[in-house]
Amino acid sequence: MQNNRLVRALRKLAAAGAVALAPLSLQPVSAATAATAAPAPIVGGTRAVQGEFPWMVKLSVGCGGSLITPQIVLTAAHCVSGSGDNTRITVTAGVVDLRSPDAVKVRSTKVLRAPGYYGRGKDWALVKLASPLASLPTLKIADTPAYDEGVFTVAGWGAAREGGAQQRHLLKAEVPFVPDAACRAAYGSALVPSEEICAGYGQGGIDACQGDSGGPMFRKDDDGAWIQVGIVSWGEGCARPGYPGVYTEVSAFAAAIKAAAATL
Ligand code: ARG
Repeated sequence: MQNNRLVRALRKLAAAGAVALAPLSLQPVSAATAATAAPAPIVGGTRAVQGEFPWMVKLSVGCGGSLITPQIVLTAAHCVSGSGDNTRITVTAGVVDLRSPDAVKVRSTKVLRAPGYYGRGKDWALVKLASPLASLPTLKIADTPAYDEGVFTVAGWGAAREGGAQQRHLLKAEVPFVPDAACRAAYGSALVPSEEICAGYGQGGIDACQGDSGGPMFRKDDDGAWIQVGIVSWGEGCARPGYPGVYTEVSAFAAAIKAAAATL
C-alpha cells in the first residue's frame, strides 16, 4: 500500500490504454498498513452473521480465501509468493470475528500458485492446510459460465474504504455483474476478459477493497446452494464510479483448480 498513489496513477494510465500493468496493484495488504478506524464494511457493505458464510477464511498474508475441500483453500495468486512447501501461512476459519475465542487457526503445508501466473489474469492459488477443517462446510466452485451473471455477494475482512483499515468483523456486499465490454471501457487492455469477471455499480459506492483479495465472490445456484464465481483480484481504487471490481473468473479455471487440488 506504500505505492498506492503510484499504483493509482499507473492504473489510470492503464485504464487509458497507455500501459498494461497488473502486478503493482495486486499487492495484498499486511496488517501493518492499517491506519484509521473505518466505519463501514467491505466498501458499502454490512456485517456478516456468524455461520452465514462458513467456508470463508482469512489468511495471515492479508487476504481472504474459501474452503473448497476440508483441507484446501482457494485464494488469489497475488496473495502468495510461489508454489511449494510453505508452513508460513496461518488460516483463520469458523468465525466472522477474527478475535473470537472460537476461531480455528490452522497452518499451511503447501501452496500451489496458478501455473503461468505473471501478474495479469490467472489470479488463483491453492493453500493446503496442515489438518482438515472437517466440521466446516465447503464452497462449490462454478465449473461452467452459467452463473457468471446476475447479482453476486462478496465478503471479506479488508478495508471498508479506499486506504482504510483492515476489519475485525467479516463484511459482505452485493454487486451486480458488469459485462466485459463495459469493464473493458473502464480498464482497457489491463483486463483479461477470458479470465476475469467484473462486478460493481456504475455509480460506485459498493466494492471489495484492499485485504479482500483472494476471497470469494459467490451467488446461489439453481439448487439454492452457494457457488463461487469469482476471486477478489483488483480494481482502480475501491468503489469508484466507473471502475468495477475485477475478479478471477472461476469457471474459466475450475478444471485446472480441481486438477491442481488433486495433486496437493
Ligand atoms: N488487490 C486487492 C487486495 O490485494 C484487492 C483489490 C480489490 N479492489 C477492488 N476495487 N475490488 O486486497
